[in-house]
Amino acid sequence: MSGKPRVLVTRRIPDEGLDPIAAACELDLWADELPPPRDELLRRVAGCDGVLTLLTDKVDDGFLDAAGPGLRVVSNYAVGFDNIDVAACAARGVAVGNTPGVLTETTADLAWALLMAAARRLPEGDRYVRDGRWKTWGPLLLLGPDVHGSTIGIVGFGRIGQALARRAQGFGMRILYHDVNELPDDVTRPFGASYRSLEGLLEESDFVSLHVNLSPVTRHLINATSLRWMKPTAVLVNTSRGPVVDQAALAAALRDGTIWAAALDVTDPEPIPMDDPLVGLDNCLIVPHIASASRTTRGKMAAMAAANLLAGVRGEPLPTPVAPPA
Ligand code: DGY
Repeated sequence: MSGKPRVLVTRRIPDEGLDPIAAACELDLWADELPPPRDELLRRVAGCDGVLTLLTDKVDDGFLDAAGPGLRVVSNYAVGFDNIDVAACAARGVAVGNTPGVLTETTADLAWALLMAAARRLPEGDRYVRDGRWKTWGPLLLLGPDVHGSTIGIVGFGRIGQALARRAQGFGMRILYHDVNELPDDVTRPFGASYRSLEGLLEESDFVSLHVNLSPVTRHLINATSLRWMKPTAVLVNTSRGPVVDQAALAAALRDGTIWAAALDVTDPEPIPMDDPLVGLDNCLIVPHIASASRTTRGKMAAMAAANLLAGVRGEPLPTPVAPPA
């Protein structure tokens, strides 16, 4: 017994986080590329004072029972925390932390990259060249919509939605947003952003980008009905959570021309099964949940998750706590 707090870290994270944890704690690190299977996770969390989780680890009553009464903190290595039953943690006095802020700009960069890549058909163009199909300059080859000067609809106008709006401003776009409530003028005026109902936003936008948390309200927010509100030329970008979009409805909409293209960083489930209809569609670009994947940002997330974990095991307030639901 070292006398140090016992912690489980469920995947290798950058050294900015791992080093301070290893120095201060008795560390059990699950170092595989794949997440620990559920039974292994429950076995290893038993008796821990703290755990650093990823969005692939489900923290629910079963997990908390397995951990036992000594667990003080769950520190999620993500800004999203839909993998954690925060109310169940609060009921047992377990603090929950996440990593807000540090990944805002990097996530908006990827949302922007997806938007541009889908509009200008970059993956298709790349495949076209590598497949040896490029014979000449073609007046009608791989045409797409202009991004500059078009209208973008941002669903969820929080930190990341606003960071995307800043990028859209650089392209002279008209900016519409939808959120639970209309936001104060001093938030929206710098972007020239106008509030719309979801239906109004989807009807008017050339590009729609999703930046909402996953909750019972936002699950399948984009479904067969809302897809029909969109323009047949529209591009849908999702860097939020996969279940915000009804994937079967999206596949149908992309196939029958209800909308023009989609670009997804997140899917439901993850990884997307190779026999999912979206995988076979040229007008659907899919990347493997990499929105925050810059070296700098992942390092900052690690440092922040470690700070939450260490504060929690010491019984101190977390630097970035997740508030339990009201
Ligand atoms: C998050 O932080 O919630 C992302 O989805 C992963 O960086």
